[in-house]
Amino acid sequence: MSTIKIDYKRELELASRGMIMIHDHTLLIRLLVRMLVRKAHLKHAGMILFDPRKEEYVLAVSRGEAGERIPEHFLRFDKDHPLIKIFFEKEYKYLINNRNALLVDDLNKLIWRESVIEGGNGTRELLHKVSDQMPMLNSVACVPAFYRHQLLAILLLGPKKDGERLEQDELDFFAALASDVAMAIRNAQLFEDLRREAERNRNMFVQTAIALGTAIEAKDPYTHGHTERVTGYAVAIARRMLVRGELESSSKFFENLYIASLLHDIGKIGISEAILMKKATLTPEEMAVMKTHAQRGADILSPVSDFEGCIAAVRHHHERYDGSGYPDGLKDGEIPVSASIIAVADSYDAMTTDRPYRSSMTKERAAIEIRSASGRLYDPKVVSAFFELYERGEL
Ligand SMILES: [Fe+2]
Repeated sequence: MSTIKIDYKRELELASRGMIMIHDHTLLIRLLVRMLVRKAHLKHAGMILFDPRKEEYVLAVSRGEAGERIPEHFLRFDKDHPLIKIFFEKEYKYLINNRNALLVDDLNKLIWRESVIEGGNGTRELLHKVSDQMPMLNSVACVPAFYRHQLLAILLLGPKKDGERLEQDELDFFAALASDVAMAIRNAQLFEDLRREAERNRNMFVQTAIALGTAIEAKDPYTHGHTERVTGYAVAIARRMLVRGELESSSKFFENLYIASLLHDIGKIGISEAILMKKATLTPEEMAVMKTHAQRGADILSPVSDFEGCIAAVRHHHERYDGSGYPDGLKDGEIPVSASIIAVADSYDAMTTDRPYRSSMTKERAAIEIRSASGRLYDPKVVSAFFELYERGEL
């Protein structure tokens, strides 16, 4: 074995080990095939990959000299295609196992021996088809990449530029690389499955929150559409604050704000309809019961870990900037910003819609009311963002 060979192997080995951490296996394979061509001086190399969604194999990467490359994603093979099938035929397993690869020379020798020496008819269709197919793929050797019994990929190796044959130690080395690739593909598939599962759970969680939000409205028809509007206002205010540099950009913050806005009044589920629907002013006792909805809401959500990031906003959405709110009388910087945002969004919607005890005021009047309470009832930063949206006609 020459020193040059050892050098390229070490380089490829290191590269493939590093690349195994890449979750995007298509990128890994592109890099690997490109390095193979360059370092092992092949005229062409490519990779056929299994597409689990379509249950077929596709030529995903082709690299090499001009005229040798094959258009990618153009060639597709189903599981019954000879080039795929041969890797599962017990009869030919020894061919591949001996060499760690399927070589067009071996195939041709076998075809010749069967037809001439063994007196067979020489028309073993499968062998002929594969032997015809490989040159069309500009390949002299195909290295399978298995994960357990699953054929995940086939590494296509073209002839060497110097016309020399591929040595067995090189084929062994390429087989090890192919096995790394199979592991990387498997990891990427598992990672993708987990990601999808998490996304599915997340969607289910959001759908549940929306359903819960709707449940609150079902109990109190006067607030019809309130949850949806408050959520819209709250997210719009937060986006404006982000643009104004008054919020850290965090998708988690926005998600929690979205869910908390949907569920801010979830605690009203525990309040009697006699109080919720009362047209006259609430007595002090009734008002005390009504105020418990903030705490009740937090209690309802607390057993579910997914709601963890929303609980503070639900609990504190009636706190006031000067400390006159409930349930904890928090003030100024003590109030979570998401709660302060919901407070403004909630007040604006309450003012601009009819309630059992009073009719609505105009948007203009409501916006002025909110601005006049800035720094007293509401966080001035939230009010500034709110008022900017109002002036732009976005509320
Ligand atoms: Fe509320």
